[in-house]
Amino acid sequence: MRHRKLRRYFRHGTLTQLAVFEAVARRLSFTRAAEELHMAQPTVSIQVKKLAATIGLPLFEMAGKRLRLTGAGRELYAACEDIFLKIAEVEERLARLRSPANGTLQLAVTTTAKYFAPRLLARFLERQPGVDAGLTVLPREQLLNRLAGGLDDLYILSDPPEDIEAAAQVLLPNPLHVYARADHPLARRRRLRFAEIAGEPFLLREPGSGTRRAVEQLFEAHGRAPNVRMELGSNEAIKQAVLGGLGLAVLSAHSMAPGTMHEGIVPLDVQGFPLRRWWYLAYPEGRAPSPTAQAFLDAVREPGWLEGLAPAAAPLPAASAAP
Ligand code: PGA
Repeated sequence: MRHRKLRRYFRHGTLTQLAVFEAVARRLSFTRAAEELHMAQPTVSIQVKKLAATIGLPLFEMAGKRLRLTGAGRELYAACEDIFLKIAEVEERLARLRSPANGTLQLAVTTTAKYFAPRLLARFLERQPGVDAGLTVLPREQLLNRLAGGLDDLYILSDPPEDIEAAAQVLLPNPLHVYARADHPLARRRRLRFAEIAGEPFLLREPGSGTRRAVEQLFEAHGRAPNVRMELGSNEAIKQAVLGGLGLAVLSAHSMAPGTMHEGIVPLDVQGFPLRRWWYLAYPEGRAPSPTAQAFLDAVREPGWLEGLAPAAAPLPAASAAP
């Protein structure tokens, strides 16, 4: 035990004895305390005697016919308030952990999930307004580190992590399209073969990004490497670079979510696209989700819960007369 001097207090029943003592000290009567506690008076006396024996000092004395606290009794009575207050505080915090309605929920999501995760969380908070929620948006590599350390309740990322023990459930589709500026010569072509776009300059996300990995895997599968025009650290910067005419980009359709600027950018009609990827909700394996996190995991499985969060099929620009 860390606190050797406190060993005597860790006997079975000390807390009960303290509760009995507190009632006697407050009422200054064994009889009234026994009534309050619904206990027999001899039991109350025994409990107080045991406590006095544990402490090694008398707690009460008689002043004529009246019961009064000794010096030790007064010290202990004052401490009782602190002890019970501390226990009440702990209990309040634990109650928050026990109840999904009042718990906390810390969600961490990868960069591209920021286009839908806040709306998803908002839906949950509409049902559970008492939940104290937080949302962190991080590059995928940092997110994987946090997942490995189990720092947050739930994680949203596309493709479950390969080398981290994590439980994951499918959340939403994450279709990836090839995007170009609307006036790009390929924008009006139909059923483009991969070979027809593969030599174009491409704008890639930063190393470690899930979107970038999907692009690299695709080129690898075709035995090629992308012609990288530029690396940019965010979907928004890539969209601006596409608008600037710097090249093509493979992006999640979520990055064109309502409210994000995408005028002047169009998806190309390329065979094999959109690439079909999925968003997952994950949490560290071997750790039971908190009741609040579990309520979130259950909610997203409810029919209709995710309605409107998957990106709508991307409208293609009008086809050219002679593809
Ligand atoms: P991102 O995509 O890392 O490219 O933002 C999310 C993911 O693939 O996990």
